[in-house]
Amino acid sequence: MGIQVAIDGPAGAGKSTVAKKAAQAVSFIYVDTGAMYRAMAVHLLRKGITADAPDRIPEGCQDADISIRYENGEQVVLLQGENVNSLIRTEEVSQMASVCSALPEVRAKLLNLQRKLADENDVIMDGRDIGTVILPDAQVKIFLTAGADARAERRYKEQKAKGIDCSYEEIRKEIEERDYRDMHRETSPLKQAEDAVLLDTSFMGPEEAAGAVVDLIRRKVPAE
Ligand code: DC
Repeated sequence: MGIQVAIDGPAGAGKSTVAKKAAQAVSFIYVDTGAMYRAMAVHLLRKGITADAPDRIPEGCQDADISIRYENGEQVVLLQGENVNSLIRTEEVSQMASVCSALPEVRAKLLNLQRKLADENDVIMDGRDIGTVILPDAQVKIFLTAGADARAERRYKEQKAKGIDCSYEEIRKEIEERDYRDMHRETSPLKQAEDAVLLDTSFMGPEEAAGAVVDLIRRKVPAE
């Protein structure tokens, strides 16, 4: 079994940026589990299943074939063999991923894939239930968070930089809705594992936060 680093936290806290940088620094693979739920959302939307008809999700998710591979160090998510990386970051997919990830049938489909990756590699895996459910014995567990204002502001700036017209209020509202759904669902809700270290990045840049993660890893798993 490889070394397991679990990073959980709410949407927009910077988990993926920080986890990716830290993974590079310690030469582990980075596994973005949110991207797998997003691929599932694409699968469901393609079947015409939308967030307002969640009763069709348990059946609709059954034939989803989701896997990942690495190209030049980047995680590529495959849905029925197709690279869907360029389709998974829209607002529609974000909302559907949040809705479908609340269902046990969807979580069960992705659990084995996530555990297998952690069995076969040294991983930094990020998500919502990695330290609590997927890798309860991870050597390092981090709950990475930031205030809702800081997260909304980052997302707003990102969208603006991409030339996407958006409103700060709308983004903040969407973040709050997702937080609420992720934290209040019955199956694997987002919560800090008892043995996780809290890392609040509200006033930290990505380099500083990644450095803090690497320090935590090195404290538990010294470099050879
Ligand atoms: O991290 P993200 O925003 O890409 O995740 C997309 C959605 O998937 C999010 O609403 C929560 C859900 N998710 C989850 O339930 N469990 C995980 N381990 C990762 C993501």
